[in-house]
Amino acid sequence: MTLAIHGGTPVRSAPWPSWPPPLDDGQRKLVTEVLDSGLWGATQGSVCNDLAAAFADRSGVPYGVTVGNATLGLFAALRGLGVGPGDEVIIPAYTFVACATSVLLTGATPVIVDVDPVDLHLSAQAVEAAVTSETAAIMPVHLAGSPADMDAITAVARRHGLVVVEDCAQAHGALYHGRPVGGLGDAGVFSFQASKAMTAGEGGVIVCREAGAHGAIWSACNLGRRLGGEWYGHPEVGWNLRLTEIQAALLLPWLDRLESEIARREAFCAQLATELDGLPVTFVPQPAGTTRDSRHLLMLRLETPVDREFLLAAMAAEGVPIDGGYPPLGGMAALHQARTEACPAATAAAADVVWIRQSMLMADPAEATHVTEAFAKVLTSVI
Ligand SMILES: Cc1ncc(COP(=O)(O)O)c(C=O)c1O
Repeated sequence: MTLAIHGGTPVRSAPWPSWPPPLDDGQRKLVTEVLDSGLWGATQGSVCNDLAAAFADRSGVPYGVTVGNATLGLFAALRGLGVGPGDEVIIPAYTFVACATSVLLTGATPVIVDVDPVDLHLSAQAVEAAVTSETAAIMPVHLAGSPADMDAITAVARRHGLVVVEDCAQAHGALYHGRPVGGLGDAGVFSFQASKAMTAGEGGVIVCREAGAHGAIWSACNLGRRLGGEWYGHPEVGWNLRLTEIQAALLLPWLDRLESEIARREAFCAQLATELDGLPVTFVPQPAGTTRDSRHLLMLRLETPVDREFLLAAMAAEGVPIDGGYPPLGGMAALHQARTEACPAATAAAADVVWIRQSMLMADPAEATHVTEAFAKVLTSVI
């Protein structure tokens, strides 16, 4: 038997649900059909187009383009909306590095600004303060499954004539004032990478409202071709950023169960909320306007100073592995070309916020008690 770091029996020895969940019949059927058809490329079959159309429809916009991953999707969306060398794109400091590297791919400069100290999403005030004559775009991130405060952010964008690219990588199914993310800005980008709420190992989809943007984004993903134009006609510079039909066949049927999986994670979170009472650990609140958090991750704030590395190791030893979350983006050596504003809220979050990953949130809500028991045991000894 494994001994917990504090001695005794670990709180939990059973594994947590694994991710992805088992394939369902719909996925097996469609993947098999695509495999048997031999039409594996996006330019050969129709499933990528069906997936793009389904995401556009769910996002309340007319257009969608599937893409190899969301990093390239963010790049293609920015480029399709006219962002390029000499421009600046404002991104949050508490997010995944791809937000910055997708901007670098366009030749523009990422401008890293602080997040709201309470909800940890991009702060509209910080955006407003960072706007210059070079600013071309804002990239709000719907972090952990809850939408950024889009009314405040789009108001800044409108005042300064900026485009808005929503990073929806973590927010499939999230709602802001009852409206789906992805359709709130000029373009939205979802990820299907292995850790995401829907996955084909890798993948992404871009959704957008305007026909012109759609044509330019499609072209960026299809070697500069014109939509409906000649195969060897390349009026623009573009790349092959396409998804495959096999990946799309894993993803399209997943839409039928996305809602029930979100509800399942929500039930776990609701139970955990009732049980954290009395412990120095609180939920990071959602931004104003969140009407559905898709619960990709649960962000928890430690309300007491603790040795983080020890906490993470001790929780893992108790059978409740949690995640340390993001370091502030501005501190990364690779991003030396970025302009970084002061980011005290992101720095604080890197010190006192931890995450519970989606697979754990898929457990039976009754198992939330293992999380609180482990926190109680570990925190009592380290505080
Ligand atoms: C917030 C955020 N943006 C962008 C990405 C990049 O997505 P992908 O891995 O599909 O390129 C991710 C995920 O990894 C992410 O979490």
